[in-house]
Formats: sequence, C-alpha cells, structure tokens
Amino acid sequence: MKIFSNPQELKIYLKEIDKTVGFVPTMGALHEGHISLVKKAKEQNEVVVVSIFVNPTQFLKGEDFEKYPRKDEADKQICKLSGVDVLFFPQAEDIYTDDEVSLNAPRIRGFVLEGNSRPSHFDGVLTVVMKLLNIVNPTRAYFGKKDAQQLNLISLMVKQLFMSVEIVPVDTVREKDGLALSSRNVYLSSPQRKEALKIVSSLHSAGMMVSKNILNSELITNEMRKILAPLEISYVEILNRDFQKIEILEIGNSVILVEAKVGVTRLLDNIWL
Ligand code: PAF
Repeated sequence: MKIFSNPQELKIYLKEIDKTVGFVPTMGALHEGHISLVKKAKEQNEVVVVSIFVNPTQFLKGEDFEKYPRKDEADKQICKLSGVDVLFFPQAEDIYTDDEVSLNAPRIRGFVLEGNSRPSHFDGVLTVVMKLLNIVNPTRAYFGKKDAQQLNLISLMVKQLFMSVEIVPVDTVREKDGLALSSRNVYLSSPQRKEALKIVSSLHSAGMMVSKNILNSELITNEMRKILAPLEISYVEILNRDFQKIEILEIGNSVILVEAKVGVTRLLDNIWL
C-alpha cells in the first residue's frame, strides 16, 4: 500500500498509473462500515484510494473536533488488510491555507435536518469533498447511506457542478443488535449503548407500519417519537429521495431519517423504503 500526504504527488501518481479509481473518503476511526465501502470500491475499480482526514471545517465551534477519535496506526493496518492500494493521509496544511475559496451548501437542502442543528456543517463537508475529488480524480466515489443528507448533497454538488465522478451509495452496516456502525459509537457508555437501540426500534416500528400499508407520514413519525421519547430528538422525518417532505410515504422513493442525542452523542440513522 502506498501512502501519500502531499496532494500534488498523489495527483501525479494517479495520473501516471492511468487506471479506474474507486475513492473512499473517510475521517478515520475505521470500522466495518468503511470496510464495506472499500469492498464495493474494489469490486468496481482497478485501484482503491482511501483518504483519512479529520476535516476541521465541518465541525462547528464547541463540537468534538479535538476529541474526534483518531486511530492512525490501527487505520493504516485496516487499510492494508482490506487491500487498499493507496492511502491519502494529509495534514490540515496540505488541504487548507488561511485565505480560502469555499463552497456553500444549498441554502434550503443544506440547512434542514442535520444542517439545522449544525449550520455551515455541510459547507465544510462539500468544500473538503470537492477538494478531495479534485486531488484523486476518481472514476467512482463511495459514501454510506447512513449519512443520507451528506450523500444527497454530494450527489447534488456533482450534478450541479457537472462533475464526472460517479457517486455510489452503499448500505449501512449494523451491529448484530441493529445499531448502525459509526465512529461516534465509541463515545457511548454501556447503558447509553442500550438507550441508542431505541433509534433502531423506532425505525423497525416504522418499517412494520409500512409493511401493513400504513403510509401516513404523521402517523408513522408520531409512533417513532413515542419509542424515542426518553432521548433528545433532533428530528424524525419522512422525505422522498429528493429530500422533500412527503405526507404519504412513497414506497421505493422514501427515506425515514432520525437524529437523536444519547448523552451528548448525536446519532443518525435511517431506512430507505
Ligand atoms: O462522512 C465522513 O466521514 C466525512 O463527512 C467525509 C465525507 C469524509 C468528509 O470529511
């Protein structure tokens, strides 16, 4: 596995090898969810590039940037064992200067749901993803469906800016008990870990209602809120795949999204129906 930290050197290397490239951008603390992105990238491309960069611009003041889990050596080993060909491991000064051109997330879709509780978060995500895509110039880039709003906004950016990369959504990987894998799960104490399962139960109950042909969004989300009740709920929404609110769930074109706080840890999850 080759490791680069300098963007220009990586650009030159990838241009010279001239192969199809699958790209998996990450912030490290790698888990099975990331490995499933790598596996998919390996199936579909000749070369797989993973980046590990805890992007400061997507954290708001007071968020967990400083204490975001960093497991550099373990992550390198995981990449090696997963068959990653190239690891891009830049420092902040390789990516940012002190006077920056930046991208703004769309003022509507970027400022609802997670963007409502974290205004400007998606400005930072889109800016860094654009930079990373320009450095790696991949054939395909892989993003988890767990971060559904991020996936939606990145797909929108690629479409609206006429970029040629293909964005590939990858299914959420879960623990045996259903909890969606996330680098933030390490913050949960063992009682909190149990509490977090309310998120899974709420989505499960929504799925059951839909299977009984109960498609009214309000009925479904009210039931979910009852299950989530002891947690601090940021949002429970039913949207179509264009991220617009819908009163009646459309099978094959809907996402049910939840964000709730367990202790101080924000957890996201969703199901695509
Ligand atoms: O999902 C993440 O890990 C990050 O938001 C991403 C896409 C790597 C950008 O920093």
